[in-house]
Amino acid sequence: MKRAPLRKPVKLTVVADAPMPSVGSLSILCISGPNLQLLGTREPAIYGTDTLADIHARLSEEGRALGTVIDCRQTNHEGTILDWIGEARGVFGGLLLNAGAYTHTSLAIFDALKATEIPCIEVHLSNPEAREPYRAASRIAAACVGKVSGFGPDSYLLALRGLVARLRKNVRGS
Ligand code: DQA
Repeated sequence: MKRAPLRKPVKLTVVADAPMPSVGSLSILCISGPNLQLLGTREPAIYGTDTLADIHARLSEEGRALGTVIDCRQTNHEGTILDWIGEARGVFGGLLLNAGAYTHTSLAIFDALKATEIPCIEVHLSNPEAREPYRAASRIAAACVGKVSGFGPDSYLLALRGLVARLRKNVRGS
């Protein structure tokens, strides 16, 4: 019986202190939900005066510094959030999600996050637990790997840092 020729061994060079593999390949999708297009003028005492465009610009800058690419989107429609989460598999390595009021109501978003299996951080500008009782419960929290709330626009940046640190850890496999 003729044996298949042995493959030539592939030479691997490992440099101990080489930089970590770039997580640039793990691009991140940031979704902001209903009424967040109104940031800047919406209840500034609660949400501050930065617009969503300001937040997206800061996220992109921070993303670049972290070696990631961020796709920032906003919609008022629950179905569109479901579509974006559903299409994210294989395209994005992580999600940042401020689902706005859908946070407190949407079993469908919870299901979409569970189905997609992409690590997601729940983000809020305010601290919903410290506000009206009907904001205390999150329907999506149990489908997320973490949550950042209460830091105004910085919540998005802190969430991005946490997500990238987590993704890097997974790349290292530790
Ligand atoms: C919010 C908190 C929600 O309770 C609220 O419905 C929003 C904004 C936040 O970012 O603080 O729309 O998600």
